[in-house]
Amino acid sequence: MAVPAIFARPDGMAMRRTMGRFLTGVAVVTTQHEGEQFGMTINSLTSISLEPPILMISLNFNTRTGDALLASGSFAISILGVKQEAVARQFAVRGGARFEAGAFDTTEGGLPVIAGALAQAECRVAHQYDIGDHQVFFGEVVSSRFRDGEPLAFNSGKFGAFRDFNHDPMPWMF
Ligand SMILES: Cc1cc2nc3c(=O)[nH]c(=O)nc-3n(C[C@H](O)[C@H](O)[C@H](O)COP(=O)(O)O)c2cc1C
Repeated sequence: MAVPAIFARPDGMAMRRTMGRFLTGVAVVTTQHEGEQFGMTINSLTSISLEPPILMISLNFNTRTGDALLASGSFAISILGVKQEAVARQFAVRGGARFEAGAFDTTEGGLPVIAGALAQAECRVAHQYDIGDHQVFFGEVVSSRFRDGEPLAFNSGKFGAFRDFNHDPMPWMF
């Protein structure tokens, strides 16, 4: 695509394409309300605070998962590995069945999470804001676990793998 000559206020698609250049991992957010399970694929997952442990997700207003999450006050996230692209697609089909197929674990609080995910975390909603066309949820992490593995990546609308992690580590971080 040719580089546009001017800066311009982005419409929805231009905003998606602008921010789509920011490489992310892929996660599934899940929740449960009145006995029904809900879940959807997201890449708006961000770590916010370490102590206390808080993360953030941003969900479009018109998702079934967002409404259920607002009503239940709790949710879980599963950070997907590179072999879980099919799960990411299954949880992104609008109106599609989510829990009929696949393998799930259960958090201590009884929420479904994706089995084999690189990390799973259960959260209690600490704050919720409506901003623009999204609902932003800040979740206090009440329990989590993680394993090593290659992450599923997403960039410019495509799933993929980001394999070159052999540069020098940031020594103070991990
Ligand atoms: C890689 C990827 C990332 C996504 N990230 C988000 C996100 O952060 N927030 C959001 O609202 N939708 C996101 N979506 C779209 C939802 O997964 C999709 O709209 C889903 O069908 C909503 O499900 P629901 O309406 O059944 O809850 C993403 C989709 C993909 C494939």
